[in-house]
Amino acid sequence: MKKVVIITGASQGIGAAVVQAYRALDYRVVATSRSIQPSTDPDILTVAGDIADRATAQRVIHETLATFGRIDSLINNAGIFVAKPFTAYTQEDYANVLAVNLNGFFYITQLAIAEMEKNNAGHIVNVTTSLADHAIDGVPSVLANLTKGGLNSATKSLAIEYAKRGIRVNAVSPGIIKTPMHGAETHAALGQLHPVGHMGEVSDIAQAIVYLENAGFVTGEILHVDGGQSAGH
Ligand SMILES: NC(=O)c1ccc[n+]([C@@H]2O[C@H](COP(=O)([O-])OP(=O)(O)OC[C@H]3O[C@@H](n4cnc5c(N)ncnc54)[C@H](OP(=O)(O)O)[C@@H]3O)[C@@H](O)[C@H]2O)c1
Repeated sequence: MKKVVIITGASQGIGAAVVQAYRALDYRVVATSRSIQPSTDPDILTVAGDIADRATAQRVIHETLATFGRIDSLINNAGIFVAKPFTAYTQEDYANVLAVNLNGFFYITQLAIAEMEKNNAGHIVNVTTSLADHAIDGVPSVLANLTKGGLNSATKSLAIEYAKRGIRVNAVSPGIIKTPMHGAETHAALGQLHPVGHMGEVSDIAQAIVYLENAGFVTGEILHVDGGQSAGH
């Protein structure tokens, strides 16, 4: 029976690349986001909904089990980034970023691990950001750090809690990646924020997630895929 992965934020950018990477591994994929469209690939099930809403997480888990019968991996990729000076954040910014980045991780991860525990097997990858351990002058990012830093820490906590039950939990920490999040006119300047001098591609992140998927002895790892950002400048 083919393995099954759930990927959040799967409609575009990194998430869409991760869908293709898992299909190349011959996994069945459950792809979710608010605007995701049905797929013609019978091994891709799409479930539309707001990941900050627990009802969406319940629906994704229910439809995954009803359609494909198992859950092997969960990629928590849905996330939003609001870069503003700290005092300019509105209550709405604060609520939205926490809702997508934290609630969007918490509800579906809780439900997925409850299924994985039944099989004593599973793998979770959280997509975070290297800003969480390496803030950049001129890129105000408190809400990203608050939420993605929390996810990095929760990655380690969950990895230890479930280490003896066959469930691995890792994170991929990207630098700045060419996705619809960043207009092409910003690429040259954003590239200079990396020691290697350029931005990353969605394939760089997808490859890192595939590595972690196949790395049975790796858990609690924050894998930086950031052109050297977290190492220093
Ligand atoms: N690109 C970068 O430079 C970069 C750097 C570091 C970390 N990251 C992280 O990488 C992840 C993916 O980023 P990306 O650049 O690929 O972003 P993106 O192009 O903006 O795509 C974000 C994805 O998340 C989904 N999403 C957003 N809000 C949602 C919600 N409330 N409910 C369900 N789905 C939602 C979007 O789909 P819908 O609109 O259909 O809902 C979309 O599929 C994020 O967690 C981001 O923080 C990105």
